[in-house]
Amino acid sequence: MKLFLDSANIDQVKEIASWGVLDGVTTNPSLVAKEGKDFKETVLALCKLVPCVSAQVTATEFDDMVKQGEEYASWHKHVVVKVPMTTEGLKAIHYFTQHGIKTNTTLVFSVPQAILAAKAGATMISPFIGRLDDIGEDGMGLIAEIMEVWHHQQFTTEVLVASTRHPRHIVDAAALGAHICTIPYEVFKKLPQHPLTDSGLKKFLQDWEKTKK
Ligand code: G3P
Repeated sequence: MKLFLDSANIDQVKEIASWGVLDGVTTNPSLVAKEGKDFKETVLALCKLVPCVSAQVTATEFDDMVKQGEEYASWHKHVVVKVPMTTEGLKAIHYFTQHGIKTNTTLVFSVPQAILAAKAGATMISPFIGRLDDIGEDGMGLIAEIMEVWHHQQFTTEVLVASTRHPRHIVDAAALGAHICTIPYEVFKKLPQHPLTDSGLKKFLQDWEKTKK
């Protein structure tokens, strides 16, 4: 499973990329607005750090989505055009696919939406599991259903588990065979941590010091 960072913060991406485990970055208009920096400059900086950067169109009509997405794709070969899961979005995904532009379908909350995005040719789809959990639904259950459908179909679309909230989401996504998981910075920082690693290392180093006496 590929690991992406869900962030538009360059320092955060640099830090996690330095661990040697980062396959890509997802951004959205909210994450970009939070940083308050120029969008194109941000995307280009991210493209230098990782091989896959999702940049979301803000247009809602087909023609404008195509215009915006083609511009983003012209910036750098690492750009993946993120398109919302609407009927206009489906048309745009189909267009981009026919023109060799990679897409990530965002705001996927159901299996029918996932199937339609795959049929339109999406490179990846982003089911938002945390937001489903937030309203009392079963986010990981949606991933399980999508992976079951994918098991029986010939879809090449990658399933990118988004809106993750805690390390268990990453484990469960991997166990279900999801292709990608995008993870917020705060959650990513928790992944390498374990108290027994810390106490074990402390003890090893203390014992090593004793050999010098
Ligand atoms: O980037 C898309 C998705 O991961 C957003 O997550 O936490 O805003 O529900 P969240």
